[in-house]
Amino acid sequence: MALTEETINSISSNYYSFVNRFSRSKYEDEKMLGKFYTNQFVCSSLSASVVLALKQVHKKQICIIDPFCGDGRLVVSLMEEISKDSQLRSLSFSLFLWDIDNEAVTQAQANVSTFVGRAGLKASIIAEMHDAFSFARSFYGRFDVCITNPPWALLKPQKIFSDVSSEEIENYKRVISKYDEFMKQEFSTSLPEKKFGKWGTNLSRCGTELSIKLLCDGGICGLVSPATFLNDQVSRPLRQWMFSLCDIRRVDYYPSELKLFGKADVESVTVLFLKGSPQRRVLIVRHLETTPNSETIEGKDFDFVEKQGFVLPLSEDSRTLHVLERLNRLPSLSDYCVANSLKVTREIDETNISEKLAPTGTIRFVKGYMIGRYSFTTQELFLKADEKDAPKSVHFPKIVWRDVSRRSQQRRVQATYLPKNCIAGNSLGVVASNSGQGPALYSLLGFLGSLVFEYQARVLLTSNHVPAGVIRKVKIPFLDVNNRLASLVAQRLGSTNCEYELDAYVAKLYGLDFDCYSLIVSSFGFNSMEEQQYLSAFRTESKKEKQ
Ligand SMILES: C[S@@+](CC[C@H](N)C(=O)[O-])C[C@H]1O[C@@H](n2cnc3c(N)ncnc32)[C@H](O)[C@@H]1O
Repeated sequence: MALTEETINSISSNYYSFVNRFSRSKYEDEKMLGKFYTNQFVCSSLSASVVLALKQVHKKQICIIDPFCGDGRLVVSLMEEISKDSQLRSLSFSLFLWDIDNEAVTQAQANVSTFVGRAGLKASIIAEMHDAFSFARSFYGRFDVCITNPPWALLKPQKIFSDVSSEEIENYKRVISKYDEFMKQEFSTSLPEKKFGKWGTNLSRCGTELSIKLLCDGGICGLVSPATFLNDQVSRPLRQWMFSLCDIRRVDYYPSELKLFGKADVESVTVLFLKGSPQRRVLIVRHLETTPNSETIEGKDFDFVEKQGFVLPLSEDSRTLHVLERLNRLPSLSDYCVANSLKVTREIDETNISEKLAPTGTIRFVKGYMIGRYSFTTQELFLKADEKDAPKSVHFPKIVWRDVSRRSQQRRVQATYLPKNCIAGNSLGVVASNSGQGPALYSLLGFLGSLVFEYQARVLLTSNHVPAGVIRKVKIPFLDVNNRLASLVAQRLGSTNCEYELDAYVAKLYGLDFDCYSLIVSSFGFNSMEEQQYLSAFRTESKKEKQ
């Protein structure tokens, strides 16, 4: 049932009054409201792109909004760029600044009015405290420009301290549920494709959807967002909607190493787009080194991007798309598992795990930090004899990989083989067998541990985790067990370090040529000696193939 404006207002004010009451520190407040203010360089660069697009708009009066304005820095920097342009600076501007944080709104009003006064621009300013999500409805379709950085936060219950009564906690749960229901109804395109657990409405995605709704036809948006929006699985519907409705002109990618958001280890993007007239081309500017590199994705590359759910090559260039397109015809790890009676799974939840463990026993407990590439260590930790949670798979060997892996790690897929009588905590992904299946597991580990496998996975890994959903999708060359591969893996697990031979052999199984393989090897940032070892092993394999 459609909600009335009155109901929406009360849902919103009930929710935000709890947020205010429960926030005990600046840190908590920032976390709840997703306050990651935009870096000044990014503000200026995005504003310059918006101004270029604005020069094509032939209107005398321009309506501009930042619905999540913070201290108003994006609008200030946009007006700065406008003031440098003789054609634009003579126009009249209506500037709207909204934020849920009243102090920020006051600051934004002061900052923007000081700048426009000093620059002598004709501008009216309306700076008001609002919940943009619930307030914006009557403003849909009204703005020529939206420049914004929506809150970087998920909607979920806040940590509550012990001096709050249970009645109040119950009230809070009801109120946040109602607000979540409203958000899902109003911003349905931003809902994750697959949902994990009750909470998870992403305010940055909803803010992106809101920005598009606020624009008039032909309106220009300059958006700041976590980069995951352009390459994660869950935002696919939002990307599809956006690419089908808008002309996505330019994406600037900023890797986490630039530390643009204080200590937070996040990759970010800015996106410049126009509402209406979608074009099948997008300029990507990667700020990877001192000089950014730019590339236009169009034609067949754009077709491939579309087929993949508009996952853009942000950190890698379009040569990656060509390699991925070649590999895309192959079966996936998931297909391999089905063909060989293996199962991607988890074995035991690590919450309160110490209660389930003992210093002696028959089933050894293994968790993330104990796992390396082709190796593992153990501790005297065993599943208690009476523990009922053990799945059948503990009685058989398995492949495991570490769930947590930093984006900065050179090798992100840390996988190995575990013999029977081990149980893996949920900090490990598992490919379990229901009988021996040794060769099938060894063969699979050969793929999982290879550069080609990891190269594919990296495009899909958007956080500091290696989820099973990504691992399942990665392509492998065929479904049969390969005996030479299985035997190389057995050697690698033992004392013989045949890393380079193994990797080159896998690359050959994938059907790669030298150029493709060297592109993959060079993307890992090895030192030149190591790089040469991979490449020379590949040359040796090529010779063997010809004999
Ligand atoms: C990522 S910050 C961006 C601030 C500023 N525009 C910038 O670019 O630096 C997100 C802002 O959204 C505000 N915010 C969070 N929830 C909001 C809501 N429901 N309505 C309006 N503003 C909200 C926060 O207070 C914060 O100032």
